[in-house]
Formats: sequence, structure tokens, C-alpha cells
Amino acid sequence: MSISIFEVEKPLLSLAPMAGLTHAAFRELVALYGGCNLYFTEMLNVRAVVFQNPRKDPYLICGEREHPLFAQLVGRDPELFARAVKRLEGFFSFEGYDLNFGCARGAIQRYGWGAALLGEPELCVEIVLAVKENTSRPVSVKLRSPDHHRENLLSLTEKLLQAGVSFVTLHPRAPKDGFKRPARWEEIRWLKEAFPELPVIGNGDVFSPQEARKLLSECGCEGVMIGRAALLRPWIFRDTARFLDEGVIPVAPPPVEAPERLARLIEKYLPEELREKRFELWLFWYLQNFRYGVHYFGLIKKEKGLAAKLALLKKLLKEERLDPYPARPYLLR
Ligand SMILES: Cc1cc2nc3c(=O)[nH]c(=O)nc-3n(C[C@H](O)[C@H](O)[C@H](O)COP(=O)(O)O)c2cc1C
Repeated sequence: MSISIFEVEKPLLSLAPMAGLTHAAFRELVALYGGCNLYFTEMLNVRAVVFQNPRKDPYLICGEREHPLFAQLVGRDPELFARAVKRLEGFFSFEGYDLNFGCARGAIQRYGWGAALLGEPELCVEIVLAVKENTSRPVSVKLRSPDHHRENLLSLTEKLLQAGVSFVTLHPRAPKDGFKRPARWEEIRWLKEAFPELPVIGNGDVFSPQEARKLLSECGCEGVMIGRAALLRPWIFRDTARFLDEGVIPVAPPPVEAPERLARLIEKYLPEELREKRFELWLFWYLQNFRYGVHYFGLIKKEKGLAAKLALLKKLLKEERLDPYPARPYLLR
């Protein structure tokens, strides 16, 4: 099934869903820097969507510029997925729904959600069908490699394709790999070779426009999704698009610009009680652009309030400059 976001000749560039980080304010920051072609919300717990007031849920706040935006759902019970989508259809106009069959965090897997579902293909299919019954919008899945065995990846994908998914994003690490082992891009190619008609977005360890181009050409996939490097450089999509078109990487903005912009957007979109925490969560990543970032982060954590944190940040980053790509974080979380 083809969907319009893939009906352009250029590769699709997508911002990865990242819990606590890709809220409306951050997505808008990415959009202001030139944007990408596909955004996802942070993962939304289907139970919370069903039982909380969607109008008061901070995870469901949407911005003005982030299109197309897919809601990413996480859970286990097909009926709750169905009810969640029905609810979201009544309140919002997400352009599609993405099903999280890839999050490998301990707590998520202990509930049997995310990557824990990779070992239960029949349940994955039931979830896809339950969602599709309640929406006419595209439904996609975000997968990890089940176990690096080609047959298992292809057999799961085949079932999902038959159930009607519109596209697949693959982060080719197995659930037990964490971030320690490199993403195995050849597994993205396995998918493309086996299912030429299925649009595939490749994800994992893209830290520069050059690596985005390499992944696209090695894997033959339609798109590339970038996560951590977009936290370090929210303008990486603009740079990648320009690099793919013209082989040129634009000049980076001054280091204080992104934090100033994000602080303003956080004030615009997020409720008071979340603002400082969300800003700090992002700074943990952004400051890894700089050699003394961990030290800066420690100092900023001690400041109370968004304004005080920003004021100190301005001082600390005044003499800093951004190195050329790759924008690779040196800490894992
Ligand atoms: C802090 C953090 C939060 C994440 N949260 C989610 C999430 O909510 N849903 C999801 O599907 N993946 C999540 N991921 C995985 C990313 O979407 C992505 O697959 C992974 O970071 C690999 O891409 P990268 O190498 O470009 O960072 C998260 C990753 C990080 C680092």
C-alpha cells in the first residue's frame, strides 16, 4: 500500500520518537530549523490514552508546524489499542499511527510491551488489525531486529505486511543489544530485498548527513530516521537534505541559539510543572556537543528554574563552538 509521504522522489527524513524528548516544543524546534518529512509523538501508553482526558494530557500536545505527525502507541492489549485509536480520532488529527514494537527499555519489556512483542508475531498482527479497524489513516510499525536472524525478521514483517501496515521503520539492534553494539544496517537491506513494495525507513547510528547518505545507499531504503543526533543538532535534517541535494553542509547556528529557542517553545507548549525537567532532559544530550558538556550539565542542574538555567547556559556557551559532524553522543542513557 503506498502512502503519500513516500510519493516524492527524495528520501524521507524522519525524527525518531524519543520519550521525554520529542514533545511538541522539540518537534517545533526541528521544524523551525527546516524540518523533516515525518514526525512521531513520544510513545503514548494506550491505557493512558483511553482512561485520561486527552485534552489535559501533556503527551498529546501538538504544535503548529510538525506535519505529517504520527501518534506512536505502546501497549499490549489489542482492545486497548483499538479504543485508544478511536479516542484519538475523536480529538486530534494525527496523520497516522505508529505501533511501538521496538522499545527495549527494561520497564517497557517487563510489561510485555515494545520489543517484548517481537517474539509474539500473532499478537503483533492482532494489534495491527485492531488499530486498522478504527482508522482509515496509515498504520506503521517501528521494529527492532528480533534476534538478528534473517528468517525471523522477514517472517514477522511478512505477517505485518499482510495485516496491512503501510511502512516499517527498522532499528537493527536486538532487544538485548542496548546501544552498546552498532546497528546492523545490512538487516535494513534484507527487508528491502525481500519486500521491494514495502516502504522502509532505516534507523540507527546516523550521526551525520554523510552517514544518512551511506545508510540510504547501502540499504536501498526510502527513508532514514535520526534520533540522538537530532538531539545534539536539531538542524541535522536541513543539513542532510542540503547535503543529499548539493553535497554541501550549511554553517551551524551559534551554540546558544537552539537552547534559547527551545526554552521559548517549552514555555509556549508545555505545562509549568514539566518545563524545567524537559529542558534539562534535552540539555543532557545537547551539551554532549561540547568537550566539557558533562561538567556544564552538572552546573546547570543546580540552577533552579528555566530562566536561571538559560542564563547560565548563555555564559557557558559564549566561547564554545560546534565541531563539524559527526554529532555522536558520548554518554548513553
Ligand atoms: C532517550 C531515548 C528515548 C527513546 N524513546 C523511544 C520511544 O518513545 N519510542 C520508540 O519507538 N523509540 C524510542 N527510542 C529509540 C529511538 O527512536 C531510535 O530508534 C534509537 O535512538 C536509534 O536511533 P539513533 O541511533 O538515531 O539514536 C528512544 C531512544 C532514546 C535515546
